[in-house]
Amino acid sequence: MHKHEAGALQGISPKTSVPFVMISMTVWFIMFLLCPGQLRAQLGTTANIKHIVVGRCYDYITLVNPSLRLDCEEIWRQFEEAVVRQSSCNVTVEHYRHMFYAMPQTWPCDRFLFWSKTRTLMHSYAAVVRHFWTLEDTLAGYMFNDLIWCGQEEDSGFDFSSCPEWSACRNHPVYSLWRQASQDFAEMACGNITVLLNGSIVNAFSRKSMFGSVELDSLNPHRVNYVNIKVVTNLEGPFIETCSEGSIVDLIQILQSRGFRWTCTDKDQTLRILQCIQNPQQSSCQTWKFV
Ligand SMILES: *[C@@H]1O[C@H](CO)[C@@H](O)[C@H](O)[C@H]1NC(C)=O
Ligand SMILES: *[C@@H]1O[C@H](CO)[C@@H](O)[C@H](O)[C@H]1NC(C)=O
Ligand SMILES: *[C@@H]1O[C@H](CO)[C@@H](O)[C@H](O)[C@H]1NC(C)=O
Repeated sequence: MHKHEAGALQGISPKTSVPFVMISMTVWFIMFLLCPGQLRAQLGTTANIKHIVVGRCYDYITLVNPSLRLDCEEIWRQFEEAVVRQSSCNVTVEHYRHMFYAMPQTWPCDRFLFWSKTRTLMHSYAAVVRHFWTLEDTLAGYMFNDLIWCGQEEDSGFDFSSCPEWSACRNHPVYSLWRQASQDFAEMACGNITVLLNGSIVNAFSRKSMFGSVELDSLNPHRVNYVNIKVVTNLEGPFIETCSEGSIVDLIQILQSRGFRWTCTDKDQTLRILQCIQNPQQSSCQTWKFV
């Protein structure tokens, strides 16, 4: 909450007259009441972004993956070059090309985990089944996770007062970076890959998601042995999609037509146990028989 307020206040320059401040505060407050979802859109570039990004990069190449020999300062320079002095809605994946060249990475096969609308569960799954790799484990994912940024055309810095919402632009700087990172990740995928989808929502597989719009098309059937789909619902439901109902069927059809081998389960034991550990009171967890 404080972060949001600070973001709003930064947008008011010291020269602004008092009535304007009051009006804009009022407008802000009304917007806050009406649509909490849009609150995020008002946030500018994450404060201290340079320290965070460069620090995470050093963390990664020093502690997470010491075999990587990369130049964190150079990666930051390329990132800055891509974003600043651009209108905040005009940063394409192309702009990040040099940055991604500066951070090549390969991953071992059979460990790739893709997910859509299952973020919380994915985190505990990846923490327990230690061998999984998600986008957030790649250097790019690690460095930019949860950050917001945008530049401004007339200025050589980031815009710390406000950034547009993703949906407001064709080429949002944050979206474009994640798009490229997701594409690289999917192109690298090899061996058996796992896809974790949310059976408690309509369109568990959506062509609009990053998985459906970027990653799926970037998977290479010659590199990927099996696409193992896991559909998981909330313990308390709703129970909307399964391997044989809803959008998952479309996903399977696309995979088949592109020559992938696949499996699909909507009753994965490990996932169910993980959910039950987090919520043991759920009635569906009381029936476990540990024999
Ligand atoms: C967006 O970028 C393109 C090419 O870099 C440029 O021609 C165009 O004028 C830019 N548009 C805006 C709104 O800045
Ligand atoms: C499925 O999506 C809903 C809505 O986004 C979310 O609240 C829920 O935690 C998700 N379920 C799983 C198992 O990830
Ligand atoms: C890959 O997935 C298939 C189908 O689920 C399975 O039979 C095989 O053992 C898996 N291979 C590896 C290396 O995990």
